[in-house]
Amino acid sequence: MMIISSMLLVFVTVLFMLLLIRQFRKCGSSPDHHHQKLPPGPARLPIIGHLHLINDLPHRTFQKLSAQHGSLMYLQLGCIPTLVVSSSDMARDIFKNHDLVFSGRPVLYAAKRLTYNCSTLSFAPYGDYWRQMRKIVMLELLSSRRVRGFQAIRSRELKVFLDSIAVTSANSSSVNLSEMTLLLSNKIVSKIAFGKKMHEDDDKNIGKFHEMLRETQELLGGFCVADFFPWLGWINKFNGLDRRIQKNLRELDDFFNTVINEHRDSSSYNNKHEEQEEDEDLVDVLVRLQKDLNQPISITDGQIKGVLMDIFVAGTDTSSATLVWIMAELIRNPDSMKKAQEEVRKVAKRKQMVEEEDLGSLKYLKSVVKETLRLHPPAPLLVPRETRDVCRIKGFEIPAKTRVFVNAKSIGTEAKEWQNPEEFKPERFPKSSVDCGYGGQFEMLPFGAGRRGCPGINFAMPMVELALANLLHLFDWKLPSGMKSEELDMEEAFGITMHKKSHLCVIPCPPY
Ligand code: HEM
Ligand SMILES: *[C@@H]1O[C@H](CO)[C@@H](O)[C@H](O)[C@H]1NC(C)=O
Ligand SMILES: *[C@@H]1O[C@H](CO)[C@@H](O)[C@H](O)[C@H]1NC(C)=O
Ligand SMILES: *[C@@H]1O[C@H](CO)[C@@H](O)[C@H](O)[C@H]1NC(C)=O
Repeated sequence: MMIISSMLLVFVTVLFMLLLIRQFRKCGSSPDHHHQKLPPGPARLPIIGHLHLINDLPHRTFQKLSAQHGSLMYLQLGCIPTLVVSSSDMARDIFKNHDLVFSGRPVLYAAKRLTYNCSTLSFAPYGDYWRQMRKIVMLELLSSRRVRGFQAIRSRELKVFLDSIAVTSANSSSVNLSEMTLLLSNKIVSKIAFGKKMHEDDDKNIGKFHEMLRETQELLGGFCVADFFPWLGWINKFNGLDRRIQKNLRELDDFFNTVINEHRDSSSYNNKHEEQEEDEDLVDVLVRLQKDLNQPISITDGQIKGVLMDIFVAGTDTSSATLVWIMAELIRNPDSMKKAQEEVRKVAKRKQMVEEEDLGSLKYLKSVVKETLRLHPPAPLLVPRETRDVCRIKGFEIPAKTRVFVNAKSIGTEAKEWQNPEEFKPERFPKSSVDCGYGGQFEMLPFGAGRRGCPGINFAMPMVELALANLLHLFDWKLPSGMKSEELDMEEAFGITMHKKSHLCVIPCPPY
C-alpha cells in the first residue's frame, strides 16, 4: 500500500515537472526568434532568461549592462521580451518616430487588480478610453488655470508646514524632512482633490487614507512572479498577494465611495445655489462631468476612482521625493546652497513667505530643481511601456508586446551629452531656457515624453518650487552633530518612486 502511494506521488510529481518545463520552454523562445534581428543583450539562462539580473535597483543594473551591450538592449525577463532604452539618441528616435507604437502599457498583475480594471490613466491600455480620459484630465483637472486656482490651498498648507519647522528650529533639534515633505504633498493633494467637504475629523480620515495608499504603492512597486510568467498567476492565491490586494482594494473602495457620495449630495445642493466653478475640487469636477451628457464618454464611478488613484499615486510621492533629493544635494553642495539662498532672499526681501508670483524670478532655484531631476529622476525607469506592434529601430526589429523601460537615470547622466555628468552643477543650465526637459528635449526625461508623458508637471512644479523657496528663505540648514556635508549618503531605495534610502534629518536654524 505504502509503495503504491509513493509511486503514485512520484508519478504525479514527474508529470507536473514535465508540464512546467513545457510551459517554460514555450515562453522562453518565441517562434520567430531566428529570422528576427533583435537588439543585442547579455547571454541568457535557460527558462528564466535574464530574470536573475533584476535586483533592488534595476535602473543601476540596466545602466551597467547597457554600457556593455548598447543603448538599445534586449532582455528576456521570464516570458517577457524586454527592451531597455538608455541614450537620448534612442529616446529621440522612439518618441519622435515611433511614439504611437510605444504608447502601450503592460498589464501588470497588481496594477490590473488595484486600478479598477486599468481605469487609471497611467495603466490604461492605449485606446479610446485612455484618449478621452487623458483629454479630460489635461483640460479639466491639471490645466494651468485649474492649478492656479489652487494657489490658496498650497500656500495655506505650506504655512502649516513651515510653522512646525519653525517650532523645531527654536529648539535647534532636527526635522525629518522625508516624513514632513510627504505629509505636505499628501495634504496639498488631498485638499485639492477632496476639498472642504470632508468631515471635521478629516485629518484622521486622510491619515487613514494615506496608510492605504502606502500599501497600494508597495503592491504596485513590488516584485510579482506573474508579471514575468503570466501563467503562474495562481501562485498568488497561496503566497498572500491576492489577499493583500483584495484587502487594500476593499478599503480604498470604501473610502472613495464615501467621498464621492458626499460630493454628490452636496453638488445637487450646490447646483441650486449656483456654485462657482472656481470653488470646485477635483471630485466635484469629475462628478459634474459624469452628469454632463455632452461628454464623449460616460464616466463610471470606477473610472472616477481610477483617476483619483492616479493623482495620489503619481503625484504625492514623486513631489516629496524630489524635494528631499534637492535638499540633500544642496546640503552636500554648500556653494549652490548659498547661491540659491541669496537669490531667494533677494527676491523675497523681508516678506514672511515667498509667494508663487515670485517664482518667475528664481532662475537659479529652477536650475537647482532641474539639475536634481537630472541626477535623481523620481521614476528612473519612467512607467513601463509596451509596444503595440512590430517596429524597426536602427535596423533592429522589436517584436509586438515587448515591455519597454526607458532609463531616465542613464539618459540624464550620459557622458556624450553632459560634462562631468555625475557632478551636481546647476550652473550647467543656461539662465534663459530653464524648462524641465519635457517635450522636444531628450537629454533628460524625468517626466517621460510623447503621448504618455507625465500630464502632472504643471501641477508638481509650483508645489515643489514654492516649498523649496520657502525652506531656503526662512532657514539655514545644518546636519546633526558635527556630520560633514560630504558624508551625507545619497543611496537610493527602489520602489514605484525612487526615494532617498535613509531619511533626511536636518537642523533648521533661524537665518538672521
Ligand atoms: C516631480 C513630480 C513628478 C514626476 C517626476 C513624474 C514623472 C512621471 C513619469 C516619468 C511618468 C511616465 C511617463 C512616460 O511613460 O513617458 C508619469 C506619468 C504620469 N504622471 Fe507624473 N510625475 C510627477 C508628478 C505628477 C503629478 C503631480 C501628477 C498628477 C497630479 C502626475 C500624474 C501622472 C499621470 C496620470 C501619469 C500617467 C500618464 C499616462 O499614462 O498617460 N504626475 N509621471
Ligand atoms: C475589464 O476590461 C476589459 C477590457 O476593457 C473588459 O473586457 C472586461 O469586461 C472588464 N472587466 C471588468 C470586471 O470590468
Ligand atoms: C521645544 O522645547 C520646549 C521647551 O524647552 C518643549 O516644551 C517642546 O516640547 C519642544 N518642542 C519640540 C518639538 O521638541
Ligand atoms: C523619519 O520618518 C520616517 C517616515 O515616517 C520614519 O520611518 C523614520 O523612522 C523617521 N526617521 C527618524 C530618524 O526620525
